[in-house]
Amino acid sequence: MKTLSYFIETHGCQMNVHDTEKISGLLMQYGMVPSSTASDADFILLNTCSVREKASHKVFSRLGELKPYKESNPELLIGVAGCVAQQEGSAIIKRAPHVDMVVGTHQYHTIPDILDELLSVRSRGEGQQNQDRSVFTDFEKTVTPSEVKTIKRKTVFRANITIMEGCNKKCAYCIVPYTRGRERNRTAGNILDDARNAVAQGYSEIQLLGQTVTNYHDPEKEDYSFTSLLEAVSGIEGIRRIRFVSPHPINFNDELVELIAAKKNICKQVHLPVQSGSNAILKKMHRLHTREWYLSLVEKFAATGRHIALSTDIITGFPGETDQDFEDTLDLVRNSQFEQMFSFKYSVRPHTEAAEWIDDVPEEIKSERLKRLQDLQKEIQVSLHEKRYLGKVMEVLVEGKSHDGQQVMGRTGTNKIVNFPSFSRPGDYVNVKIEKTSPNSLKGKEII
Ligand code: 5AD
Ligand code: SF4
Repeated sequence: MKTLSYFIETHGCQMNVHDTEKISGLLMQYGMVPSSTASDADFILLNTCSVREKASHKVFSRLGELKPYKESNPELLIGVAGCVAQQEGSAIIKRAPHVDMVVGTHQYHTIPDILDELLSVRSRGEGQQNQDRSVFTDFEKTVTPSEVKTIKRKTVFRANITIMEGCNKKCAYCIVPYTRGRERNRTAGNILDDARNAVAQGYSEIQLLGQTVTNYHDPEKEDYSFTSLLEAVSGIEGIRRIRFVSPHPINFNDELVELIAAKKNICKQVHLPVQSGSNAILKKMHRLHTREWYLSLVEKFAATGRHIALSTDIITGFPGETDQDFEDTLDLVRNSQFEQMFSFKYSVRPHTEAAEWIDDVPEEIKSERLKRLQDLQKEIQVSLHEKRYLGKVMEVLVEGKSHDGQQVMGRTGTNKIVNFPSFSRPGDYVNVKIEKTSPNSLKGKEII
C-alpha cells in the first residue's frame, strides 16, 4: 500500500503548536510521512483557534480554499482539529461537506483510529461515510489528560511539555473554558520524566504548557503546586532555559516571584495578562485581580533587582469600557513598563458570559483605542530596548535564519529576538553584543 503523507496547519497559541507536535508523532507512528506542502499531502489537518472571532473565521475561509484540492483529488482527506472543531462540531461538516473529520480538543489521540475507519470504508468502496460518525468532540471524564508519548518536536532545542489542560476560571470574554474543558493536571512524576527524557535527547529549553499553567497542582500529591514543579524542573541537570505559558497573574505569590528571580535557568521573562487597567472593567471581566494588586505584583518583580521582562495581553472596547476606563489602562501600561504586549479589540465569543451583553463600544472606538495603546507600547519598547539592551552582551539561543535569510535569529532569555551574522546553528547558545535596537527586535555581533 502507498505510504500516505500528512500536512498540519497550525493556528493559535503554544498549546495548539504542541498539540500539532503530538498529532504529528501519532501520524508518524501510524505510518504516515510529513509532507512539505498542503497540495502534495494525502491528509490535510487544520489545527484551529477560536479565541477571537477573526481566528475562527479564518478556518472557514481556509476550508473554502481547500475545496478545489478535494475536487481535483477525491482521495484527499481533510480534517479540522482544535478549538473551532470543539466549538462547532458537526456544523463544520454541514457548512463544508468536503471535510472528512472533526476532532475536538480532548480527542486528537483517536485520529489514527478515525483514519483507519475512513480508509477502510473507502477501500470497501462505500464512498462518503456517515458524517455523524466523523465528529468526535466528547470531553474525557478523566482527572488527568491522556498521556501521549509520540511527539514529533518542531525544533531541536525546545521541548514543549503539557503540565495541565483546561481552565476553571470564568473570565467573561473567554471561550477557552468552553473549548478546552475543566482543568486536568498531569502528575509531577510524568512531567519530570518527560523533562529528563527531553534533556537526554538533547533539548536544552523546556516550555511548560497549560491554559492556566500557574494553577497547576499534582493530582496525586497535596500541596504540590506550580512553584514546587518549577523548582523541580529547574533542578534537572542539563536544562538551560525554562519557560511557561499561559500563567494567570492571580497565582503569583512571593515564593514564585523569588524562585523565578533566583534560579539561573528559569527565563527572566514572565507573561502577566492584565486585560484592562480599570477596576470596574476587571471586575466585570471576573479577572480576580484589581489594578492595585496587579501593580504591586509588577513592583515585586522590580524589587527583585533582576532584569525580568514582563509582557501582557490587553483587550480594548470590552462592553461598558468608558474613556476613563481606557485612560486607566494606558496609565497602567505606562507604570508597568512591559517589554512586550499582545493587544486585541474585544470580539464577542459564543458560550461566554459577555456574549449576553451589548457589545456597546463602537468598532471605530475599539480601533482608535487599540492604536493609541499600541503607539504607547511602541514608545515604551523603543526606550526599554535602548536602556536595557544597547551595548550589553546577551546570551542568545539560536533558532534559525533571520527573515532575510542573511543572518541567524535567536532569542534572549527575556524573549527578545536578536538577529546577527554567524555560522551558528539552531540550538547553539551564543553571546551577542547588542549594537542596534528597534521596537520589535535587536541586532548585534557575536562575541567569541
Ligand atoms: N476578544 C478579544 N480578545 C480576547 N482574548 C480572549 N478572548 C477575547 C475576546 N473575546 C485575548 C485575551 C487573552 C488572549 C489569549 O486573547 O487578551 O489573554
Ligand atoms: Fe480564558 Fe480567563 Fe481561563 Fe485565561 S484564565 S483561559 S482568559 S477564562
